[in-house]
Amino acid sequence: MVMETRTRLHPLSSKGLPAYPNGWYALAFTAELPPGSVLTRAFMGQDVVLFRTRSGVVSVIDPYCPHLGAHLGYASTVEGETIRCPFHYFCFDVNGVCVSTGYGTKPPPKAVVRAWPVREQNGLILVWYHAEGRVPDWDVPPLDAGGYSPLVWRAWELNSHPQETTENSVDIGHLSIVHHYDDVQMLSDLTCAGPCLTVRYAMFRPAPFAGLVRGTRSQFTIHVYGLGYSLVEVEIPRFNIQARLFVLPTPIDVERITLRIAVSTRIVRRPREVHPLLGLLPAGLTAPLLNRILPGAVLNGLAHDVQQDFEIWQHKVYFSPPILAEGDGPVGRYRYWAKQFYSDPMPPALE
Ligand code: FES
Ligand SMILES: [Fe+2]
Repeated sequence: MVMETRTRLHPLSSKGLPAYPNGWYALAFTAELPPGSVLTRAFMGQDVVLFRTRSGVVSVIDPYCPHLGAHLGYASTVEGETIRCPFHYFCFDVNGVCVSTGYGTKPPPKAVVRAWPVREQNGLILVWYHAEGRVPDWDVPPLDAGGYSPLVWRAWELNSHPQETTENSVDIGHLSIVHHYDDVQMLSDLTCAGPCLTVRYAMFRPAPFAGLVRGTRSQFTIHVYGLGYSLVEVEIPRFNIQARLFVLPTPIDVERITLRIAVSTRIVRRPREVHPLLGLLPAGLTAPLLNRILPGAVLNGLAHDVQQDFEIWQHKVYFSPPILAEGDGPVGRYRYWAKQFYSDPMPPALE
């Protein structure tokens, strides 16, 4: 089923890849859009406007009011279950349909603004992009947030591409060179199932954890859904810590992405399992403190590591085929899997 043909088919990024792969992309975190609020985001070469109705429904719409063209991200307000344009008070529902005018007259039937397919789950507001306007044919699986902390996050704007940043998950070679991880082991072979790719590693991270403890051995299970959403389940057995990391590259335009990372940690009930010394204090005191600082500490570690990639990502190009070597990891299989997210055959890339 085709929703609507978009007009900007397959522009090329300077990386040599089609700029906008099909799939789900994060536009905001749930906590950034409380009921009654409006946000504007740059997405795929245009603005989109997010609003949340008073009852809590999220909508993502094109920015320009079909009446006389005001930008709905500026000076608009949420009125009940609609967004109200500031210019002549036309109101649009979550489907982008004009349901009233500021004059109390009948809304023009053609006064409709495009509403994007949207999902809100796992603390994220995700929007679906498809170059040919197809409706979603897969979803990011919902997670049970029970027993986990609220998300904390960081975001950067980078010259890069979702396929390039996501390729990090399978680029085993760079883990020791760029990130200085030791003893990187693949715990299971990469598996691909439709839009989902899964890979598991164990590694030793010599950098201090939470600014205190030097060196931690961690296990990572990375679930990649499309090129805009990766969930990394981390276990640090030594401290009995489990965390969920989200890595979320979203195209701004043909050259730039917003890279969001977010962390949620499993709530610690028995602090002595994290460190025996914590058992010397009453759990009623240490557990809340630990649960307050842990997500931020894990986020800082992730932010530290992901920033080590930035200079390389921002200046690299995409070679196809690449000249691979033993020790690279399953880069070729990742790239074959990634082809499904492009509507066109892959164009000839830089040789
Ligand atoms: S331009 Fe939006 S109501 Fe007139
Ligand atoms: Fe990396």
